[in-house]
Amino acid sequence: MPTPPNPFNFIKRRGMILFMAETLIAANWKENLGELEVRAWMQEFGRQETRSKRQDIEVVICPSFPFISLFASFQPSSFQLGAQNVSEFEKGAYTGEVSARQLKSLGVKYVIVGHSERRQNFGETNEQINQKIRLCLKYGLTPIVCVSEIKQVETIKSSGHPIVVVYEPLSAISTGEIGQPDTPFHAQKMALEIKKIVGENVLSLYGGSVDSKNAGEFLKEKGINGLLVGGASLDPVEFTRIIDTLYHL
Ligand code: PGA
Repeated sequence: MPTPPNPFNFIKRRGMILFMAETLIAANWKENLGELEVRAWMQEFGRQETRSKRQDIEVVICPSFPFISLFASFQPSSFQLGAQNVSEFEKGAYTGEVSARQLKSLGVKYVIVGHSERRQNFGETNEQINQKIRLCLKYGLTPIVCVSEIKQVETIKSSGHPIVVVYEPLSAISTGEIGQPDTPFHAQKMALEIKKIVGENVLSLYGGSVDSKNAGEFLKEKGINGLLVGGASLDPVEFTRIIDTLYHL
């Protein structure tokens, strides 16, 4: 499998591995888009990308598992590949599961872990989520850990490794089209709280009903390092507009 051309965005400073990117915008497609739609999305996204890539901005696309290898084979250097989930087991007889090692071999760099839809619909516990975080870190994948309340942040075990934590209040996620975005003020408060708990080595994101109209309001708050975008990322033009917000702050 070809590995993506761009190096993983980390630097070593004061003996610590730190994020190079200061802002991360991730697309979470959830259980949407078929193969033809994925191909069309990629084509359109490629057409939209006129700006030059900035090293301080990381764009991550998280398609469904079957399309990860599709991306890996012609991934442009302007974004990184992410997965929406990973097995809590390292390898073996776990039918239907996909391991961190397998994801790594396909060029995946990031993995969404503990999304509220998985906590609610599949009963994922903090213990399972930590097991997934551990395996991600073991195989050089960066977990994008989703939380909807502070007590979930307190359970995260990252041992000082760079991780991404996304605050997504349940009422904000547009599952079933009923999300109400958080206020930028409250989202910032939570982002700062997350940094206080997890430590310096975290990118603290907001997620929930983000679109190109409200993205700038969140991104301009100090302490919010990016966005996890669900529904609005299914449209490559709208997703590009969200990324472009960063160029006009
Ligand atoms: P939404 O989803 O942007 O559609 O609200 C965000 C998420 O669940 O990650």
